[in-house]
Formats: sequence, structure tokens, C-alpha cells
Amino acid sequence: MKVKEPLFDYINPQIKYSIENGDALKVLKTFETEKFDLVITSPPYNIGKSYETKTTIEQYLKSQEEIITELVRVLSHKGSICWQVGNYVEKGEIFPLDIFYYQIFKKMGLKLRNRIVWHFGHGLHASKRFSGRYETILWFTKSDNYIFNLDDVRVPAKYPGKKHFKGPKKGMLSGNPMGKNPSDIWEIVVQDWENELWNIPNVKANHPEKTIHPAQYPVELVERCILALTDKKSWVLDPFCGVGSALIAAIKNERNVIGIEKEKEYCEISKKRINDYNEGILKLRPINKTIHKPSKTDKVAQIPLEWQELTRNGDN
Ligand SMILES: C[S@@+](CC[C@H](N)C(=O)[O-])C[C@H]1O[C@@H](n2cnc3c(N)ncnc32)[C@H](O)[C@@H]1O
Repeated sequence: MKVKEPLFDYINPQIKYSIENGDALKVLKTFETEKFDLVITSPPYNIGKSYETKTTIEQYLKSQEEIITELVRVLSHKGSICWQVGNYVEKGEIFPLDIFYYQIFKKMGLKLRNRIVWHFGHGLHASKRFSGRYETILWFTKSDNYIFNLDDVRVPAKYPGKKHFKGPKKGMLSGNPMGKNPSDIWEIVVQDWENELWNIPNVKANHPEKTIHPAQYPVELVERCILALTDKKSWVLDPFCGVGSALIAAIKNERNVIGIEKEKEYCEISKKRINDYNEGILKLRPINKTIHKPSKTDKVAQIPLEWQELTRNGDN
């Protein structure tokens, strides 16, 4: 794929980035020890996506453990690993992957700081179990002396005018003017059902960042981790970088970054997305944008006429 030279650089020229097309384990072995302040990734889940060959969960975890050993080696003393996973599914039985991964990281001496729940409002409707509406991010640190820039990721408080109602601070504002801690439940959308879907039926809902990759994570999700867990010029690594969402999040926030990806086609898409970002034409969902909630008057939020009939008939 040929990419156009940008007219104007949106990327700080001092920022270094590269996409390594190859197998994560092999490439990692060539990296220097303690280089990265953040390893952030969504690994293959072994669920038979187009880019993976499904194997037993034991075999899958064994090969992942080899990669994780290398990731811990290349992680700096003040660094963090963010491991974003969902479920592995076998004959209708679910195996929450974070439960299995926790054991591996713990064995390697890492400390869990948060098990972040990434909640999304839409997805497949299950018929033999409750529909799954969250995945998790395990945030581990290598030591107790880790980077954590809470002020860089604060979100607006729901009630900024709230005051202490008793004690020595009675009557004084209780919140932080910079906003509140975003907590360990993150509502960041995969598919943006924004206005198009609510107001124009039959228009396919497309997240502005979506590419052909079947398991992309939103840039915004990575940005929050990057802002909180690294400093400007830190090195960030995504060992399974897909179409480069972590690279874009890092570059946008002036961090150096390396992505590893075994599929050439995805590497090409990453390059194109980075180039589009540099030209200022990449569509991104802005960080902390609120999620569209239909109002009572929106048609989609009302009980359809056909169902009202059914309820009435049932009453007879
Ligand atoms: C869940 S996807 C990650 C998607 C990525 N977060 C994004 O937003 O585009 C996992 C990726 O890991 C890649 N992959 C799987 N095994 C790999 C390996 N051994 N080495 C390098 N990449 C691998 C797959 O091709 C796939 O693109």
C-alpha cells in the first residue's frame, strides 16, 4: 500500500515509532531489557478469529506465558502492563481469561493495581446465558514505585457543587476542581450507536475508527492508560498491535512506541492510519466524549406498537 507524504506533521518529529511485522516472541527477544514504561495489549483470545488457530486453553496459555516472560523483562522498574481480555468459549462454557492470566503475572512477581471493567452497552445477544457486556483490563506494575498520573485522566464530576455536610470541612466544596477519579469501570464504546442509529433507521452503525480488523480496541481506551501510566517521551509497547490503535494513542500523546503484529495486512493498515493521523484526517472518537443515551421521546426508546398489542392480548 502506497502512502501519501503528509503536508504538515501532526506527529512530534522527536517521537519515534515502529511497526514490527513478525512473531511477538521472536521480535521481543531482540529488545533491550527495561526499555518500556508501558506494555498495553489485547492478546489473541484463542477463539478462532481469522488471525488465530484455535488450540486447547492449556496450550494457548503456555505459549502466552513465554511471551509474558519476555514482556516482563523489557518492562522498566516503574512500568505497568495493561492486559485487555474477554472470554474464551468452549462448547457454550465460558472461561474468563483474566482469571487464568492473573496466575501467570502473579507468578512473575507483578502486582495487580486494578481489574478495570470495560463496559459496553451493545453486542451479541446470547440465548443460553446472559449477554456479555464487559471485558476487563488487568493493570499490573513491576514494583511499588510506579508512574501514576491521576490528574491527567480525571473526568468531570457528576455533582461539582457538592459540599461536606459535617465535620471540620462542613460547607466547603468536597470535590476536586480538576474532576474526579475515573474509577475502575470504564464505559467506552466499541460500536458507536450515536445519532445515526437512533435517528435514521437502517443506517449501519459504524464506529468512526473501525477497520477490517475483527477485534480492534478503541484508541480512547488506550489513551487513558497511556496518560495515567506513562510520562511524555516514555516508551510504550503493544506486542499484538493489530491495526495500530495503541500506536496512534501513543503518538497522539507524545510517547515513543513500538507495535508487533504477525499479519502483514494489519501492519499496512496501521501505517495508513498513522499517516492519516499525521495528515489530520484520521477519524477518532475524542477522549471522554459522553455516550449517547436516547431520550424518552426518541422512537427507539419507546415500546413499539406491535408489542403494545401483544401485551394487551396477553392481558385478556
Ligand atoms: C485482539 S487483536 C489486537 C487488536 C488491536 N488491539 C487493535 O486495536 O487493532 C490480536 C492481534 O494479535 C496478532 N497476533 C496473534 N498472535 C501473534 C503473535 N504470535 N505475534 C504477533 N502478533 C500476533 C493477531 O494477528 C491480531 O491482530
